[in-house]
Amino acid sequence: MDRFDAVIIGAGAAGLFCAAQAGQRGLKVLLIDHAAKLGEKIRISGGGRCNFTNREASPAQFLSENPHFCRSALARYGAADFIALVRRHGIAFHEKHKGQLFCDDSAEQIISMLLRECEAGGVTRWQPCKVIGVRREADGWVVASDRGEIATDAVVVATGGLPVPKIGASDFGLRLAERFGHRIVEPRPALVPLTFDPAAWAPFVPMAGIALPVAISTETPARRSTVRTEFLEDLLFTHRGLSGPAVLQISSFWRPGQAIRVNLAPGADLADMLARAKLHSRRQLGNELAAWLPQRLADTWLALHGPAADTPMPQLPDAALRRLAAGLQQWELLPTGTEGWRKAEVMAGGVDTRDLSSQSMESRLQPGLYFIGEVVDVTGWLGGYNFQWAWASAFACAEALAARHASAVPADLSKPTIPE
Ligand code: FDA
Repeated sequence: MDRFDAVIIGAGAAGLFCAAQAGQRGLKVLLIDHAAKLGEKIRISGGGRCNFTNREASPAQFLSENPHFCRSALARYGAADFIALVRRHGIAFHEKHKGQLFCDDSAEQIISMLLRECEAGGVTRWQPCKVIGVRREADGWVVASDRGEIATDAVVVATGGLPVPKIGASDFGLRLAERFGHRIVEPRPALVPLTFDPAAWAPFVPMAGIALPVAISTETPARRSTVRTEFLEDLLFTHRGLSGPAVLQISSFWRPGQAIRVNLAPGADLADMLARAKLHSRRQLGNELAAWLPQRLADTWLALHGPAADTPMPQLPDAALRRLAAGLQQWELLPTGTEGWRKAEVMAGGVDTRDLSSQSMESRLQPGLYFIGEVVDVTGWLGGYNFQWAWASAFACAEALAARHASAVPADLSKPTIPE
């Protein structure tokens, strides 16, 4: 039977990086993936340019049942460390928006970089290779695969989350965690478009494709109160509901039955502006409103809620203008669902961090079993944070694997040697 110091299951962002780091620390590493092509999510990320980290990454941009869990790993391997690696590999990049860093050319460059790093660590890769089972033995672990059984001291689960099943996502990591006694925080699609009741949404269907900057918020029940979360980003109308960065961000905080609130003219005091326009403008309401909103949205809104778009400004009652402004700046919507795993960018929930060490990502229940990346209940905001978690958790795990390996070596040397 082949023997490795560590077997890493899942050759995505976290698995590739962990394999490279552990290999470069002298471990004999096997990296397995069931997909024929590795790093598919890296390839499709950031519109093909991979938003590989965020300059501002800190624990504040991550959701988890335990918001402190990610602290240690992020402190030990931060955005600056990954940026330095990208620079060493000569990959050109740029900042797009709010600290988000993208490759100038292609996400393929990040995959090639990770593969070169794996080569430098002498990592063995098997793919496509199906893992049939994982079992504990007296002296470590055995991973059974369709290429045979492998003995190992450590198993690292880096199989990612449930989004986009057609490119290799699976619930393998969650099932394995459960089988070995770990608690699971209910997985749910996050960074995902929101959908609405088709009848209620019908008037907005013709607006599909319209985008505008908004402030979006929701209130999530917390232990003793509610926590209000707000983002200032672009919103996009779709045929079935809402998308765009604003909605993807808020979707991670949204729970079924919860309302979201949208301010369609953030930074403006619409009530005041409409009151002034009434005094100075002779235009019709629809045209006046189009100064702050896309014309089609203004027209649809007025058709639905009034007053009539063709009313001249001076004829509008003050109370009607105040109601209109309040409606547009505090638009409350009740989503009925999300676009689900097919369209989600990440999974919220996952392996419960109470059963893992935040220093090493090792299971507290099963020594030698590690979980890294998206399979863990740590979910980043939109903007490069999820890759940063993949790199940071992989790095923490690789350091722990190396320490484990180093401490195992003197133990072996201390065994009495039998002269031949
Ligand atoms: P990842 O999904 O990368 O890798 C898991 C690997 O495990 C896959 O290769 C899979 O084939 C393999 N696997 C699964 N089950 C297995 C099994 N049973 N046996 C063997 N192998 C198995 N994030 C970000 O920070 N910036 C961005 O720009 C984007 N953009 C983006 C776009 C889109 C469309 C999506 C869907 C996602 C993003 N993300 C993102 C999120 C980011 O891609 C994601 O968080 C990381 O890839 C997670 O890294 P992991 O290594 O944990 O999982």
